[in-house]
Amino acid sequence: MHRRHVLKSTAALAAMAWLQAQAAWAQAASSLGTVGEPRWRSDPFALGVASGEPRPDSVLLWTRLYPGPAQPGQSASDEAQRTHFEEKSGIYAGQNCIVSYEIFADEALSKRVMRGTVATDAGRGWSVHVRVRGLLPGRHYWYRFACGDALSPVGRTRTAPGAQAPVERLRLALASCQHYEQGHYAAHADMAVRDLDLVLFVGDYIYEGSNPRYRVRAHTGGTARTLAEYRERHALYKSDADLRANHAAHPWLCTWDDHEVDNDYAADQDRLYSDPAVFLARRAAAYQAYFEHMPVWPFGQALDALNPAHPRIHRHWAWGQLADLWTLDCRQYRSPQPCRDPIRGGGRAVLQCPEAQDPARTMLGADQQAWLASGLAASQRRWRLLAQSTQVSSTGIDTPLGRTIYTDGWDGYAAARRALLQAVVDAGADNVVLLGGDVHQHVAAQLRLVPNDPTSPIVASEVVTTSVSSRGMSEWALARIRASNPDILHARSDERGYTLIDLSPERLLATFMATPFPAQAGAQLGVQGVFQVVSGQAGIAPVRALGGE
Ligand SMILES: [Fe+2]
Repeated sequence: MHRRHVLKSTAALAAMAWLQAQAAWAQAASSLGTVGEPRWRSDPFALGVASGEPRPDSVLLWTRLYPGPAQPGQSASDEAQRTHFEEKSGIYAGQNCIVSYEIFADEALSKRVMRGTVATDAGRGWSVHVRVRGLLPGRHYWYRFACGDALSPVGRTRTAPGAQAPVERLRLALASCQHYEQGHYAAHADMAVRDLDLVLFVGDYIYEGSNPRYRVRAHTGGTARTLAEYRERHALYKSDADLRANHAAHPWLCTWDDHEVDNDYAADQDRLYSDPAVFLARRAAAYQAYFEHMPVWPFGQALDALNPAHPRIHRHWAWGQLADLWTLDCRQYRSPQPCRDPIRGGGRAVLQCPEAQDPARTMLGADQQAWLASGLAASQRRWRLLAQSTQVSSTGIDTPLGRTIYTDGWDGYAAARRALLQAVVDAGADNVVLLGGDVHQHVAAQLRLVPNDPTSPIVASEVVTTSVSSRGMSEWALARIRASNPDILHARSDERGYTLIDLSPERLLATFMATPFPAQAGAQLGVQGVFQVVSGQAGIAPVRALGGE
């Protein structure tokens, strides 16, 4: 039986007694303008539940009150969605609503360890974030929410091990790029039933726009630009049962890439050379919707006071003595792409672009780069994992006229890449593995200070996961990339999926899970290849690889 079915049935068993108890708290909490006991006319937990940001003593729990779309299958205006919410809940804009939560130590929900209430309102899209503290390290917990007469599905989460604990394993699923229109989420269905400690999602959680060439199922609405439109897009993605199941099954760590806002944006620049002030307003709307829908919260911001203009998402995590993990932000602080087309900016393939080598150009921004460098220098754990949005190893193509590079990736930020890897060298750090996504292909690669130069030592390894559903580049183009980049040991763009990372003190094992049939909702994933990094040895090596490399 799938875990999500178990979770549903256990939720139903314990529901009645708890509803009575929480009605009493809600009554106590109600005051002028606060609704404690809405009687829902449709399920307000249609977007599910989620958890993230696991620490040894805390996790972040998430849900959002969303009683379904106002016009299923179609785009609804902000006004229509607001009216729909009022009709289904009896709650009006300007009122608060009380949501209660419970945490249990067991799957049967018989050992409750904590409960509480939190208020939400229309200003935060009726989203709920609760940072639950005082938990024990390295163990599972189960949680759920209630609001009035509605009870959420049950989620399972897990705290990180103690900071000094001698941990033998970290098993995470690395995923990115889930264009709703371009496939179903068989990858999430597969991850949801696995024994994982974490899901690590490295960007393109939503897509702001469409590509009608590969439409398996349609977005509602056009290109998202406003807060209401980004909210609608996030809600549509979470209407997918497999995605909800994967959120309910594991804690997630996340960073973002461009499509959470706009394709190929860079700091305050979009492809159309819009007024930066105008674009920053759009970006803040997209960021706000992102936080409203994710088990993620900006570092240093109170849970009831989001400032989406300049959220800090880059963070450091630890898994006992086994691993340090950094989640990096490759969008908010980066320089614009080099050698931009003057009409249509963003990334492009270019030949001869000396600007890409400019040492003043940055990918992470000076502060994040310095923070990472000092973190690497201080790191004492066995492994150092750097999770970022895209592919660090070079993907240039050698031609008779010179090397063509794609400017949105790290090739467009060559000096910044060198600085990143130099920080690894300067820290004397071994066992460094870069984890990425974005490029819609499974990749295993060596990282050298001078890419593809066999005389330049390997200083780190790279694993890039293919997309959950977004289309990949042609195998013809990828064959040219492979031929021009001997540091790439494996690259395949023809299959969708995710990557299992099994970490032990002795080695990191990367298993590329994939299906050639992302248009099939129930597609089964198989193993495309297995690569490993052995502790103390430089570089990544195949254990088993099937075709393409
Ligand atoms: Fe993508």
